[in-house]
Amino acid sequence: MLVYTSDLKKLGEGKEVSLRGWVHRYRKLGENKIFIVIRDVKGIAQCVVKKTSVSEKTWSNAENLYIESSLIVRGNLKKDERAPTGVEVVVKEIEPICVGFPYPIQKDYSEEFLLDMRHLWVRSRKLQAIMKARHYIITYLREFLDNRGFFEITPPIFTVSGAEGGSEMFEVEYFGNKVFLTQSSQLYAEAMIFSLEKVYSLAPSFRAEKSRTRKHLTEFWHLEPEMAFYSQEDNMKLQEELVSYAANSLREEEELQSSLELLGVDKETLKISPPFKRIDYSKAIEIVNERGGKIEWGEDFGVDEERLLVEGEKAPIFITNFPSEIKAFYMKEDPKKPGTVLASDMLAPFEHGEIIGGSERISDYKELVEKMKRFGLREENYSWYLDLRKYGSVPHSGFGLGIERFVKYLLNLQHIRDAIPFPRTINRFYP
Ligand code: 4AD
Ligand code: MG
Repeated sequence: MLVYTSDLKKLGEGKEVSLRGWVHRYRKLGENKIFIVIRDVKGIAQCVVKKTSVSEKTWSNAENLYIESSLIVRGNLKKDERAPTGVEVVVKEIEPICVGFPYPIQKDYSEEFLLDMRHLWVRSRKLQAIMKARHYIITYLREFLDNRGFFEITPPIFTVSGAEGGSEMFEVEYFGNKVFLTQSSQLYAEAMIFSLEKVYSLAPSFRAEKSRTRKHLTEFWHLEPEMAFYSQEDNMKLQEELVSYAANSLREEEELQSSLELLGVDKETLKISPPFKRIDYSKAIEIVNERGGKIEWGEDFGVDEERLLVEGEKAPIFITNFPSEIKAFYMKEDPKKPGTVLASDMLAPFEHGEIIGGSERISDYKELVEKMKRFGLREENYSWYLDLRKYGSVPHSGFGLGIERFVKYLLNLQHIRDAIPFPRTINRFYP
């Protein structure tokens, strides 16, 4: 019976099973015994081959295996307290699928080497656990929005209109024209709300930022919901509910308990619920300065300021009402606090930084044209976007959540590159 490594515990002593997977660890004990730890999608299992109880062929198959050789193993279950799952497979037969070559990843390796070997390192138990969790996290995000009546839309990646400032775009030669890789799908999501009212896109965004930090990628996955008739307050409510839903679902997911354990996730940190704390930007400036930082009104937060702002927090917080000049052109002015916009950044606790940026959008044509002028944007690049304010414009809001930032926060990862299988950073685009 072909089973997964995770099934072994449930099966009785003596039961005959087949496992299919890869050699995770390999140890020869004396002349007559070989321990093979097999890895499959569900976990690992210890197998023992005894020279005296297998055929010559199986023994030589066992002797010739490398780390990461693929194989099928047949044998009988035996209780063993020392085995990782409490049972081991006493091998009767080994059928190699691909013995291959000595595996290049050995015990002593540098970070850079592992990044060069990423195509193989994705098999490591740590990355396996992260990628499983990432899959589930994305599923919860979709699930939440789908249950609220959202439609998923698919935006273009080649664009001419930058959403978040021109200097950070990757240029692409497009049959004699100059186009850019999209920084955000927001503008296209905005176009779609006039048909579908509540939409979201989940797509890559590209930033040519020269930021060499533990939370910047040049290519990241971006979840961007956009909602007709939502105020900024409605927008923030949706964000805190979405984030709480995903965190709690992750905490409770049966399929992920061993992955969370392997990653050392403290599940208490995933117990979060709305409402999240809201701090006005002006107040945030005071807090930063009180806590030993140095920042003036009108400046944007960097890593240090974000760290000070979440000091002692257990759940994410919102910073609201940023000065208009440091935020994107499409954000609506707050009539109650002139000079500031109806926008919020959600900062994750434990120094993971900004995970969401969102705002109410300017829905008035004239107001948008004026703001674009003030920001030095060329109207002709955005004429289609301006059309949205000419024909049946409605108040609307939306936000963008960086999937890798979110995964980094929920799993408490050191570096954002481990939240994506093949990271793209300022100095890495291979493999
Ligand atoms: O704050 P940002 O730049 O906002 C936008 O792009 C809006 N157009 C979103 C919207 O309203 N639809 O980016 C949103 C989020 C950030 O909070 C962060 O989580 C993530 O995208 N992000 C990055 N993630 C990884 N690497 C980078 N270089 C990122 N830049 C932004
Ligand atoms: Mg932002």
